Amino acid sequence: MTIRNLDDLLAEGVSGRRVLVRADLNVPLDKQTGDITDDGRIRAVLPTLSALVQAGAKVVVCSHLGRPKGAPDPQFSLRPVAGRLGELLGAPVHFAEDTVGDSAQSTVADLADGQVALLENLRFNKGETSKDEAERGAFADQLAALGDAYVDDAFGAVHRKHASVHDVPARLPHVAGRLVLREVEVLSKLTGAPERPYVVVLGGSKVSDKLAVIEALLPTVDRLLIGGGMCFTFLKAQGHEVGTSLLEEEMVETCRNLLERSAGKIMLPVDVVAADAFAPDAAHDTVPADGIPSHRLGLDIGPETVAGFAAALSQAKTIFWNGPMGVFEMAAFANGTRGVAEAITKTDAFSVVGGGDSAAAVRALGLDESSFGHISTGGGASLEYLEGKTLPGIAALEN
Ligand code: 3PG
Ligand code: MG
Repeated sequence: MTIRNLDDLLAEGVSGRRVLVRADLNVPLDKQTGDITDDGRIRAVLPTLSALVQAGAKVVVCSHLGRPKGAPDPQFSLRPVAGRLGELLGAPVHFAEDTVGDSAQSTVADLADGQVALLENLRFNKGETSKDEAERGAFADQLAALGDAYVDDAFGAVHRKHASVHDVPARLPHVAGRLVLREVEVLSKLTGAPERPYVVVLGGSKVSDKLAVIEALLPTVDRLLIGGGMCFTFLKAQGHEVGTSLLEEEMVETCRNLLERSAGKIMLPVDVVAADAFAPDAAHDTVPADGIPSHRLGLDIGPETVAGFAAALSQAKTIFWNGPMGVFEMAAFANGTRGVAEAITKTDAFSVVGGGDSAAAVRALGLDESSFGHISTGGGASLEYLEGKTLPGIAALEN
């Protein structure tokens, strides 16, 4: 790999230099209180930030949070993240009220060696996500002016052709941070020659989101286990009625085709937990996958399915898991996700958990993170990596 990494930058010496770090601090927030509900992505960039602090750099961190529409929007402010980041680093983090304006410029100018600043949400600026090269470039110019070197540690955003990910590295000496390096090392094992059997578990709500990765994985995996909301479109393709479950009607034919081509590699649920409503206290029962009542919707995979998936996983030498098996946020529908996650921890396979949601599920269910081989911070990014796509953020570092 031709990518330079943080050690190369540290070897040059960063003391007194302004180092702009693109992080993915897009953490989930509680809708009512605004509190950070899972700080995994903040903790994931600490190794890079701490190394820069220790080396005496002036560390300027930037990130997106949520999907604001190119203008300031208080519900997406990174201010609470600055607080949490400061706690974890054990030193206050200076917060800039804007991304590249007066506040950002003076905050950066006031940094002493070894201090850290966090800029306000990148996506408060239209240029960050603009499809117009000139508009993106103009914003990248302003951002790049805040640093003397650039570190990309935002693995969760490397699949975005955004100014801070794709255009800033063209303007500054650039390296991959520790997190990006580790993520790419791990994922490249899966696209290289994974030890077999290689078993992939996919969940989440939409087939359309996962179609490309299913297509890319089918020839390489030994088994593909499908749960989550998207399993119902597959069940429908098998000829089953799915009641009021989540269904992508226009994908049924595609799923039928995938099942035909999958040479028996695809495993679908044989039972599901079907409920009266999408609610934590909804009446629910476990029913066979071919017997979902017409007025009910499936919100989790059933115990027989978990047992079958666990048996397939127990054989595996390599595992990739992306997407919850059910609505794990509701206790009544968390058993499928918990069961699959526990089954993964019990194998001696090399296991990779991909994605914001599945990673958050592991922590929300109180599972031991260290019993997984790697928990990726990137959802879309890890899937696109496995699809073999060129990731704009990685390509920019290679140049
Ligand atoms: C994510 O949460 O998947 C990353 O932070 C990227 O966010 P985005 O999907 O809004 O670009
Ligand atoms: Mg995403």
